Amino acid sequence: MEFSFVLLEWFKEHGRDLPWRQTRDPYAIWLSEIILQQTQVKQGWDYWERFVRHWPTVDDLAAATEDEVLREWQGLGYYSRARNLHFAAKQIVELGHFPNTLEGIKALKGVGDYTAAAIGSFAFDIPAAVVDGNVYRVLSRHFGIDTPINTTEGKKVFAALAQELLPSSGEEGLGVEGVSTSSTYNQAIMDFGAIQCTPQSPDCMACPLMESCEAFRSGKVTELPVKLKTLKVKERHLVYVYIRCKGHVAIHRRGAGDIWQGLWEPYLVDEVPVGAILLRQNVKHVLTHRILMADFYLWEVEQRPQLPDDYVWIKESELDDYAKPRLIEILIESICS
Ligand code: ADE
Repeated sequence: MEFSFVLLEWFKEHGRDLPWRQTRDPYAIWLSEIILQQTQVKQGWDYWERFVRHWPTVDDLAAATEDEVLREWQGLGYYSRARNLHFAAKQIVELGHFPNTLEGIKALKGVGDYTAAAIGSFAFDIPAAVVDGNVYRVLSRHFGIDTPINTTEGKKVFAALAQELLPSSGEEGLGVEGVSTSSTYNQAIMDFGAIQCTPQSPDCMACPLMESCEAFRSGKVTELPVKLKTLKVKERHLVYVYIRCKGHVAIHRRGAGDIWQGLWEPYLVDEVPVGAILLRQNVKHVLTHRILMADFYLWEVEQRPQLPDDYVWIKESELDDYAKPRLIEILIESICS
């Protein structure tokens, strides 16, 4: 248990003081974990504070509309997180309390193994180890494991090792006073991966685990963890026409089964109408499974053209009230600025 002991000692000195660590409220902790799933702490911090201020309890969040939640989420990206968050808030209200078992927490929409272990340990002292990119990196390096992390075998190996390393709460000399060891250990390994054992240039000379680190001993620090290459993400081309008619603009809401479900965007076309002026070309935007390339046209008209049924005309001054993908915000800025 040397590894875990050193990690906890390191954490006492270097652990980050983050506001969601000052509470045992599972709702506030859950919010932070959903926000931090694909967002850096620095960017997520403000959003977390705004969410807890705006909706202090899960009942408040469940009572909001999906649109309100999406609007508050605007700028964070990966909007399925916001939709799942809202859905899960209603699940919790229906249940009558925040679920307090790992299985119960995992049954919430948008919560996987990592998030369930984080919430479970932070809010309820459940002895479940978190396993994410940081943990893969720290463990693969320290124990010199080159099993690829994006394989079934790799996931199994690292999950078992992480769980084995989790100190049980009865252990002598471990943990920070008054806080359970599983909670502290999980926070410690998160921070160690984020601050000390970083992806590109870890500061091995100042690392308290240097002597027992297998990757350091064998000079393989930058080669670990191993990840199998997957197929290149597909590129997709989008052409938007911002139709302006007497201070109004036509927008529509994206449907299910594609990117940006529930968000609003201007007229999406296959063919550009005559008279439209090109404002931006090949604006690149990267999503998880796709690279988008967008062209953006402005079309000023005196009369509203015929558009598909799902388009609505809104005042340009009210565009802010509609939740839009970040790419669309960037494109619209080229008109309004
Ligand atoms: N990343 C995911 N969860 C986190 C947490 N609770 N604190 C810091 N970074 C995180």
